[in-house]
Amino acid sequence: MTTRELVVMSVFGTRPEAIKMAPLVKALEAAEHIRSVVCVTAQHRQILDSVLQQFDIIPDYDLNLMRAGQTLTSITNGVLSGMEQVLVQAKPDIVLVHGDTTTSFAAALAAFYQQIAVGHVEAGLRSHDRYSPFPEEMNRTLTGRLATLHFAPTEQSRRNLACEGVTAGVYVVGNTVIDALHQMVLDEYTFRDEALRQLPLAQGRWVLMTAHRRENLGQPLRQICQGVRRMVAAFPDVQVVYPVHPNPAVRATVNEVLGNTERIHLIEPIEVEDMHNLIKRCTLVMTDSGGLQEEAPALGKPVVVLRTETERPEVVESGMAILAGVEEESVFQAGSSLLGDAALYHRMSHAINPYGDGHAAERIVKILQQFRETLAD
Ligand code: UD1
Ligand code: UDP
Repeated sequence: MTTRELVVMSVFGTRPEAIKMAPLVKALEAAEHIRSVVCVTAQHRQILDSVLQQFDIIPDYDLNLMRAGQTLTSITNGVLSGMEQVLVQAKPDIVLVHGDTTTSFAAALAAFYQQIAVGHVEAGLRSHDRYSPFPEEMNRTLTGRLATLHFAPTEQSRRNLACEGVTAGVYVVGNTVIDALHQMVLDEYTFRDEALRQLPLAQGRWVLMTAHRRENLGQPLRQICQGVRRMVAAFPDVQVVYPVHPNPAVRATVNEVLGNTERIHLIEPIEVEDMHNLIKRCTLVMTDSGGLQEEAPALGKPVVVLRTETERPEVVESGMAILAGVEEESVFQAGSSLLGDAALYHRMSHAINPYGDGHAAERIVKILQQFRETLAD
């Protein structure tokens, strides 16, 4: 049995990874026989820092990569070369990466090149379409090949890995996003964001919208926005709040189609605590985001998924989400059906949670403690 501590390096770079890794970093910091080291690539800057601040995480390493107009190649190059130096210096026993971003894949590859074990958090999600979501489907598949420990959120994700021949080191632990959600949502809550505080959220019905995916940029996002615009025009008691992703390619289309539109409120990205409490106070969520597809059902809010596929079939199968596609007409129809049909809305708004009980981080830490036992002194 080893007597030394396990050095665990968590690597992440974007907002969704940070939100879902934060509860795990906190659990690692508190764990016995583990030294937690955090490296951020800063593939995102402002919206990453906002999460770090919220969870009081101070990274040990910061690659500070974000550039306007960054490409997948430039992010991959930056992570690979930046991580090489960090890994040589910090010598972790295991590197933890999350999900499907370019940071996750490139950091896993960098760890592999140093022959350092990789643990994949939120492993096994698959849309089975290599170009959608792009490049996330390939990022998570390749990360799954590189990893030795796979923390799958659901049985479905475990089955996806098994279909690819990955059966060793796979654990179903739930999704750490539920851990984060449990820490954030309050009955009495005052929003920190000034723009949110100004909105009459207690009056009428509110739709929370987000859309930012690469494969939706351009024409699909334009169609989505047009569908939402028509929907709002058809329901005079409905308002939309849309915290717009900082990506300039997203902003150009969203501002053009939805800017200066009555009852549609475009605001800056909001802190995660505001976001979770906003979901709780909205009627429904329309989104192409992965994380929101998990959070909204856990809070009993139906989801209109603004995509043609989803790697989260659990939510659609349980009747909490409609896969709307990315056409103006289909988005209009999906949103309108939920706003116009009280019985449908009622059926779709029972809180379910296929993503666990909020103890995913604890389970991952226990598995890492067992991993430590396998190390030589
Ligand atoms: C990336 C992830 C995607 C995730 C999304 C979450 C990949 C391939 N994609 O999207 O899986 O759903 O993040 O948000 O890893 N920007 C800022 N400030 C920020 C963040 C972004 O200005 O804090 C702007 C920058 O101009 C940046 C652009 O947004 O160049 C796009 O960021 P990027 O990480 O490349 O976005 P995606 O790849 O679309
Ligand atoms: N989120 C947030 N503020 C915002 C928009 C989103 O805190 O203004 C949170 C949201 O609740 C979820 C995560 O960010 O936890 C989703 O991130 P994003 O949509 O950027 O990426 P995805 O989930 O699509 O990978």
